[in-house]
Amino acid sequence: MATILVTGGAGYIGSHTVIELANAGYDPVIFDNFCNSKPAVLARINKICGKNIPFVCGDIRSREQLEQAFNNYKIDGVINFAGLKAVGESVKKPLEYYDNNVNGARVLLDVMKEHKCYNFIFSSSATVYGEPDSVPLTEESPVKRANCPYGQTKVDIEYMCQELQKAVPEFSMVLLRYFNPVGAHKSGLIGEDPRGIPNNLMPYLTQVAVGRLPYLNIFGNDYPTPDGTCVRDYIHVVDLAKGHVAALNHCLNMPGTHIYNLGTGVGYSVLDMVKAFSKAIGRELPYRFAPRRAGDVVQCYSDATKAKKELGWSATLSLDDMTADSYNWQKNNPNGYED
Ligand code: NAD
Ligand code: UD1
Repeated sequence: MATILVTGGAGYIGSHTVIELANAGYDPVIFDNFCNSKPAVLARINKICGKNIPFVCGDIRSREQLEQAFNNYKIDGVINFAGLKAVGESVKKPLEYYDNNVNGARVLLDVMKEHKCYNFIFSSSATVYGEPDSVPLTEESPVKRANCPYGQTKVDIEYMCQELQKAVPEFSMVLLRYFNPVGAHKSGLIGEDPRGIPNNLMPYLTQVAVGRLPYLNIFGNDYPTPDGTCVRDYIHVVDLAKGHVAALNHCLNMPGTHIYNLGTGVGYSVLDMVKAFSKAIGRELPYRFAPRRAGDVVQCYSDATKAKKELGWSATLSLDDMTADSYNWQKNNPNGYED
């Protein structure tokens, strides 16, 4: 079976994807510089997989470190999760984001081209759709200029992949636009481990649930939605990981640019999430309404039919699975990964 280099494979989505790749018979090789993850995750991944998954410590901006991976393993394809992802931080440090994300992807693609490795899967985001003109979002919905450097790096990398594919038609470029990944592996051994106070809803909820934070601030309750809070398409990270396997199965050695939304097709409000979480923990989760957060879109959820039709993939895990598994991870690891 094919050997897949998973850059950013020690991170939240990458670690779950490595497991699903191994389950499906692929040979993943993890490549990460731990700038937003911890080495402790590797032993957990090995424990879940029941075998040692090869690891190369490196930065995707370093041609030499990438060469080390390409020379030591016969890489058939690359899934690139390596990127910085904090919206607020990207506004303060735009050059770091363009360097790490866009320049990193550029170096990685160049090394792949040199090694005649033409299968690339990129972690894009629904953020490329900006404030949607209408929902649900299909892959044909317009891509817009992003309102923060993080989002713009996703738009720029998507364009870079498409331009390279035109110039080097052997490339199979898969652009996967994730909606809102949440949840954790059933084992409770791996999950999302943000640094500092979480920016995103689900890790914030889990930290309130275990008492690390006193209550959730709900950013805005006067939006034009049924309950006044914003609506998103939350998808279980294990479903998302399986979406990568389905994309590989379908697109490996299939030249062209292939774009898929990875979402459930269902939108839930912030209050829906609080209710679901309260159910998972068996008590009311404390929250307060707070002002709107700058840059938030009102509603964002996918039309998930293209991935179902072409990849034979659709999300199967429910909102109850997402909340229960997030809580299970946080409960078992109240301080995340401890080295
Ligand atoms: P994460 O921070 O948990 O994982 C990213 C991993 O990449 C980390 O292990 C980090 O150490 C590594 N990394 C970063 N820069 C690197 C570099 N230059 N060289 C080598 N390794 C590097 O994030 P995640 O949530 O798993 O997200 C993975 C990808 O998916 C990111 O590109 C992110 O932008 C994208 N994405 C995430 C979400 C989300 O909500 N989590 C949504 C849409 C898209
Ligand atoms: C955010 C980013 C997006 C990025 C994605 C994954 C912004 C504006 N958008 O998406 O670019 O791709 O994360 O990293 O930051 N919420 C609260 N209280 C909280 C946290 C969140 O009410 O403490 C609300 C938000 O207002 C939003 C919803 O929960 O309505 C989901 O927020 P979040 O988890 O941050 O995801 P996005 O905003 O969709």
